[in-house]
Amino acid sequence: MFVLAHLSDPHLAPLPMPRLDELHGKRALGYLNWIRKRRAIHRADILESIVRDVAAQKHDHLAVTGDLVNIALATEFKSARAWLEHVGAPDHVTLVPGNHDLYVRQTAEQPQREWGAYMRGDELESFPFVRRRGNVALIGLSSALPTAPFLATGRLGADQLARPEEVLAALGPDGLFRVVPIHHPPVSKLSRYLKRLTDSAALRAVLRKHGAELIIHGHDHTRSRVWIDGPGALMPAMGVPSASASPAGSDEPAGYSLFEIDGAPGAWRCTAIARGFSNGGTITELSRDVLTV
Ligand SMILES: [Fe+2]
Repeated sequence: MFVLAHLSDPHLAPLPMPRLDELHGKRALGYLNWIRKRRAIHRADILESIVRDVAAQKHDHLAVTGDLVNIALATEFKSARAWLEHVGAPDHVTLVPGNHDLYVRQTAEQPQREWGAYMRGDELESFPFVRRRGNVALIGLSSALPTAPFLATGRLGADQLARPEEVLAALGPDGLFRVVPIHHPPVSKLSRYLKRLTDSAALRAVLRKHGAELIIHGHDHTRSRVWIDGPGALMPAMGVPSASASPAGSDEPAGYSLFEIDGAPGAWRCTAIARGFSNGGTITELSRDVLTV
């Protein structure tokens, strides 16, 4: 059995004090939002409790689906690198970036520079990349790109979508359990229109044609499960809350997922275990479901 852990949207706190020349446009708005609202939600101590709980659970690999930083200050990327190293080695942790990681053009190269070792495939390729671990293949996609203020949309783009088509088609016959980590969900509610993946229909078309066994994402800061069309059966797309969300805040309390993967093609068995803060303020198992994939 292979156990995959998945956490997302740590939004590392505390946010370093920005220099005045860093605070313009989208960053200024993001900073205000952090001061007014988000700094009460995302807490370093809560995140550390989640990281410790993940470490205490038997797992073979960890996927992190982005939003490590908040307003993409140069100093945030260095802190995030230290946090990643604390969580695990690049071989053990697979990362895809979120919209906050590519918040502004000025620092859009930083995720690759600081975290590149966590966002590379077995052949050292970049997005989309493939990592094989046991009977699991992780196909990392990057949906993050700088956008205008008040937008948190994502886009994969035609180049990136052309490769998964090859990759998913090639991996299927190899009998691997294909997991697609991506920051933005493949399906968004209408209320999240300004935060959606703009080419989600194209992604779903690729997935419908070639299939994947599991899609894991962050971005919405809520635990969710949506079934999307596959070539045969429906495929689960699973979201998690932010890994740093305070149980006392307005967001869903911090949590993460474990996926126990067993079986063989045509007869996969995947058990999804939700762990996170309960009402009592401790981290417990919240649910356990067998996904038919
Ligand atoms: Fe986020």
